[in-house]
Amino acid sequence: MSITQTGTGANSTARPLQILRLDSSARYTDSVSRQLTDQMVARLLKDYPEAEVTTRDLAVGLPLPTEPMVDGILYAMQNPTPAMVAAKQLSDEMADELLAADVVVLGLPIYNWTIPSTFKSYVDHISRPGVTFEYVDGVSRGKLKAKSVYILYTSGGTSIGSHKDFASAYLKYLWQTLGIQHVEFIEASELLFNAVECIQNAEAQIAQLEIPTFS
Ligand SMILES: Cc1cc2nc3c(=O)[nH]c(=O)nc-3n(C[C@H](O)[C@H](O)[C@H](O)COP(=O)(O)O)c2cc1C
Repeated sequence: MSITQTGTGANSTARPLQILRLDSSARYTDSVSRQLTDQMVARLLKDYPEAEVTTRDLAVGLPLPTEPMVDGILYAMQNPTPAMVAAKQLSDEMADELLAADVVVLGLPIYNWTIPSTFKSYVDHISRPGVTFEYVDGVSRGKLKAKSVYILYTSGGTSIGSHKDFASAYLKYLWQTLGIQHVEFIEASELLFNAVECIQNAEAQIAQLEIPTFS
């Protein structure tokens, strides 16, 4: 289930900016990615006080890909079973949230040198031909209209671009394939060795971000 909140700005007739916040850390207490995701959303709300924030916590556990899920979301349903219908309903709900978003904020802790399975399960639900991307002359084209995704990348020591980083290239490719061209990483990836400075640097990066105009 996701939660939608409205910012505190004055009323306006223009459609408010839609922020989709995704968290994927298994931790709640002392989670650095959740802390930085809070700050990134606050940074966006500073420039866009009327924005609406939809929050989806992936750590509550999404179903893993099963045959009913794959049949339900990827293939036309002739005689859908209740399991197929339920899988499609959840996938549609999450895909609709993504398609409505103008900007995505993703909290992404590194687990065993790559993305956490909570987030991978999300990708398996929302990455759908004909829904979030399409093939045009054999080439895939993203259908998301969001302009930017901000990834709050946290790890004990797996820095972006290091030989242990099996996440950042995937994340960039994923979002660009779905249509979001501006993929920005905010990195706190030396948490085992230098947590205080590492978090301060990420916070400073968030504070100094040039937020583009989303129209
Ligand atoms: C299951 C698991 C696997 C992890 N694997 C790695 C890893 O491969 N490399 C690394 O630098 N940190 C690893 N860590 C540490 C986390 O990336 C780090 O604690 C990060 O802060 C987690 O984000 P969070 O504070 O939002 O939970 C792992 C943590 C967990 C729980």
